[in-house]
Amino acid sequence: MLKLKGSIKISGDKSISHRSLIIAAMSVGETQIRNLLESEDILSTVNILKCLGIKISKTKEYWKVIGNGTGGFLEPEKELDCGNSGTTARLMIGAVASNPIQCTFIGDISLSKRPMSRVTDYLKKMGAQTKLTRNDFLPLFIDGNDKLLPMKHIMKTASAQVKSALILAALNTHGKVKIVENSITRDHTEKLLQYLNLNIKLKKLANGGNEICLNGPYEIRSKNISVASDPSSAAFFIVGALIVPGSEIKLINVCLNPTRIAFIDVLKRMGGKIKIERKGKRSGENIGNIIAKYSKLKGIKIQSRLAPLLIDEYPILSIAATQADGTTVMKGLGELRYKESDRLKSIVTNLNKLNFEITSKNNDIYIKKKQNNIKSKKIIKTYDDHRIAMSFLILNILYPDKIAIDNEKCISISYPKFKEHLKYLLNQKKND
Ligand code: S3P
Repeated sequence: MLKLKGSIKISGDKSISHRSLIIAAMSVGETQIRNLLESEDILSTVNILKCLGIKISKTKEYWKVIGNGTGGFLEPEKELDCGNSGTTARLMIGAVASNPIQCTFIGDISLSKRPMSRVTDYLKKMGAQTKLTRNDFLPLFIDGNDKLLPMKHIMKTASAQVKSALILAALNTHGKVKIVENSITRDHTEKLLQYLNLNIKLKKLANGGNEICLNGPYEIRSKNISVASDPSSAAFFIVGALIVPGSEIKLINVCLNPTRIAFIDVLKRMGGKIKIERKGKRSGENIGNIIAKYSKLKGIKIQSRLAPLLIDEYPILSIAATQADGTTVMKGLGELRYKESDRLKSIVTNLNKLNFEITSKNNDIYIKKKQNNIKSKKIIKTYDDHRIAMSFLILNILYPDKIAIDNEKCISISYPKFKEHLKYLLNQKKND
């Protein structure tokens, strides 16, 4: 059987790439961004920023963004198309809200089914005028305003996208905006603003949550940004190495932000042999190398309080669970229903189709190991969801010729080089 071997630098982080572009556009002066992820979602953000009057170009080594300041977006002449990207939509809605311009945001079929009132409800309270389709969906018309009311927001849903939208809106709001999150979510926006020397106050709350306090309007001085590699993309190869006998891989310069690598602790609890070599910081984010090798995994219970920190990794963790002795229980996965597909359904339907023992009850999933000889070739329904496609391509290494993916094209939403990188790791004979 093929195995994963060797070392590779995977592509730039998707969340940090969106934020680098948007915050560079809101800075004053030129920013050079290195290792930007060049995926469809990121290109949606690039195109929208261009429609808002921002000059963005690409050289061989970096992307160049000429910022217009925190209140510098120009009224677009056409609709702002977010494609499949929830992060583009949510962050850009926040970013334009404190500019005195009118915009219409649109998206593809999947994005047009994902809730947007979770962002606009807060912005409306601050004074932006918004009109959503059927009160929750794109297309969204927004009439922004540079006199938004400063106020305190307590987050109802644990979402880094919503939190970041409010932070971006606050950058051009006069006065104090406080954002309270009772569950921790990824904090790349805060980290990037601190790297850019912005005076924002972060406070740890007694309940484990965070309070973010901004006092705008801000002038952000541009500073070059280097994007760390994406831990969520790394997760596919890490699980691949853990489940395919004889594998050992090293992933270089991966972002080690604690809000992103909870899946490593989960996999270690399952018995995964994973080592981290810390290497310092890159543009405000911890980075390092991750080494993973084949391991005998065991099933564990993953508590719902971890859900916001594992949100993009459940599909590939489910693949790991199919190979783990005993039962793996994943609790509190309700938010998975609002991703690029209803990921709870996508995981359960496809693993059932492959004859694994998986059940779901309410928003929990139970996966029990079983000796599984998949008899005939099965087609995985990705629901055009990139993370579902990549997860099942990893499982496919264990069941060659038994799994086909209905749409591999959707992988380019987050990781266009995934298949090239997978092929590279499968063809390395090193350490044999
Ligand atoms: C993201 C936040 C997460 C994640 C998404 C990227 C971000 O969404 O699922 O892929 O970059 O802020 P929520 O925090 O809204 O759940």
